Amino acid sequence: MKGVILAGGLGSRLRPLTNVTNKHLLPIYDRPMIFYPLQTLVEAGIRDILIVTGGSNAGDFLRLIGNGAAFGLKHVNYTYQKGEGGIAEALGLAEHFADGEKLVVILGDNIVQRSVASFVEAFKRQPLGAKILIKKVPDPERFGVVVFDKGRVLKIEEKPKKPKSGFIVTGIYMYDAQVFEIIKTLKPSNRGEMEITDVNNAYIRRKQMTCGFLQGWWSDCGTFDSLLGASQLVAKDSRGG
Ligand code: DAU
Repeated sequence: MKGVILAGGLGSRLRPLTNVTNKHLLPIYDRPMIFYPLQTLVEAGIRDILIVTGGSNAGDFLRLIGNGAAFGLKHVNYTYQKGEGGIAEALGLAEHFADGEKLVVILGDNIVQRSVASFVEAFKRQPLGAKILIKKVPDPERFGVVVFDKGRVLKIEEKPKKPKSGFIVTGIYMYDAQVFEIIKTLKPSNRGEMEITDVNNAYIRRKQMTCGFLQGWWSDCGTFDSLLGASQLVAKDSRGG
């Protein structure tokens, strides 16, 4: 299985921090943000990795990560997303890299405490479709919210004003090769982006979606508060709790 880290977008919610650098190069405690999703993939046994980046500082990723020797990798692939067309648009750029194989996709601003290896192993055995990792959070309205029907995932609603559950879809997704056909059918949402939630809903409609419950803490880093919160969580763990 191959891995994709989505680190495009302009990080506009974090201005002025992102005026002269890419959001994913900002510090989370003692390391640049992008190191964490990269480590998550490597720890899950993924060795063939593509980083999708964008903006004016894309070259800095190459200088920072190179061929991934610090992570035990021999090679890292890079590609470039123009503008901020959405997570699904960024993933669409990975079609050539995927070459028909299954993918683990992680958003470049998602930080997890525990290994996701068991979910990746389970998805390897899943004959087709997709898998999402979900988590209960106190502020579901900021995310893609899972709507359940008798314990089954009925659909996902992106940033609803009135969330129907406290469970959200984290930015760790697993897809088979159908994902690229689905992305080609998408239309931009009200916020002008190709939404990953539309991709996930397409798999749910096909009855090909499974989900896992992520253990340990999880954070995104898209706002000042979550950026600070993620640093505090990492710092606490590295001091031994
Ligand atoms: O963190 C999980 C959440 O991520 C999910 O619950 C939501 O369903 C999903 O839509 C997404 O929500 P956000 O609005 O928080 O995503 P954001 O626009 O902050 O983008 C997250 C990462 O995705 C960003 O750090 C880099 C990548 N990205 C984003 C966009 C818009 C790209 O690579 N290209 C893009 O054009």
